[in-house]
Amino acid sequence: MRCAAISAEAETLREWARQLAEDYLPDNWERVSSSAFSRVAVNRKQQIYYKEYRARSLAAVLKARVKGSQASRARINADGLLEAGIDAPHNVLWGQLPGRREYLFTVAEPGDGIDHWLSRTLPKRSKEQLLLRRQLLSELGTFVGRVHATGFVHGDLSPSNILAAQLQDRFRFTLLNNERNTRRHPMPGTLLLRDLLQLNILPASDLGKTDRMRFFCAWRRQMRTLSPVAAKILATETCLRTLRRLPKARV
Ligand SMILES: Nc1ncnc2c1ncn2[C@@H]1O[C@H](COP(=O)(O)OP(=O)(O)O)[C@@H](O)[C@H]1O
Ligand SMILES: [Mg+2]
Repeated sequence: MRCAAISAEAETLREWARQLAEDYLPDNWERVSSSAFSRVAVNRKQQIYYKEYRARSLAAVLKARVKGSQASRARINADGLLEAGIDAPHNVLWGQLPGRREYLFTVAEPGDGIDHWLSRTLPKRSKEQLLLRRQLLSELGTFVGRVHATGFVHGDLSPSNILAAQLQDRFRFTLLNNERNTRRHPMPGTLLLRDLLQLNILPASDLGKTDRMRFFCAWRRQMRTLSPVAAKILATETCLRTLRRLPKARV
């Protein structure tokens, strides 16, 4: 674990968790936008993220009794990915808060979300950007294909849940938000489709048809046990459902 960057002691972390949970921002902490049922903050100096989990509903409380709480699933699933050689946040410290809430501190992983790369960093203006964009999408396809070929489905694979960091001649990807990961052998096509659909949520202005095909071809190359018929069905379904969801876009 890359804990060298974190000099904070466990008691300091627990105190920060208590303060952040009460909506108070300790020194060097800033809020990060997150989904409605979580609260996320970052301490860039310590290179550490705080995430707070709140129970979404009574059903979520009952599910937590059977499958483990969201925070423990995030923690265990991230460890599972790391053990399989797939980058995910390294866990630092976790605990409970009043009101059935839980928190998890993780190491800040490098990079920006795929949504940020495609809409802000590489919006296709110059030739260099176009080349880098192609490289990003092809390497992203290889990465997601490797995740799926290893038997994992992410379950919440929106573009913002994949970080990409540019190394010298390639990208490094990290999977965030791993609460809903599952591992299956054989992998049901419906679960693969769900991941592919979530990744395709970006509008046509950020992701054109050729971009989507570039990703899919690289993904397909990793899925060696997937039959040509199954691959064709997945490609067609992803395309049709994406078109349905983005009716005005020429995907
Ligand atoms: N360990 C981490 N390293 C880098 N960025 C992170 C980390 N944890 C969270 N983030 C950032 O915070 C955002 C929200 O965190 P996330 O776990 O995805 O919460 P949510 O469930 O609300 O989507 C992410 O999209 C990412 O930008
Ligand atoms: Mg997220």
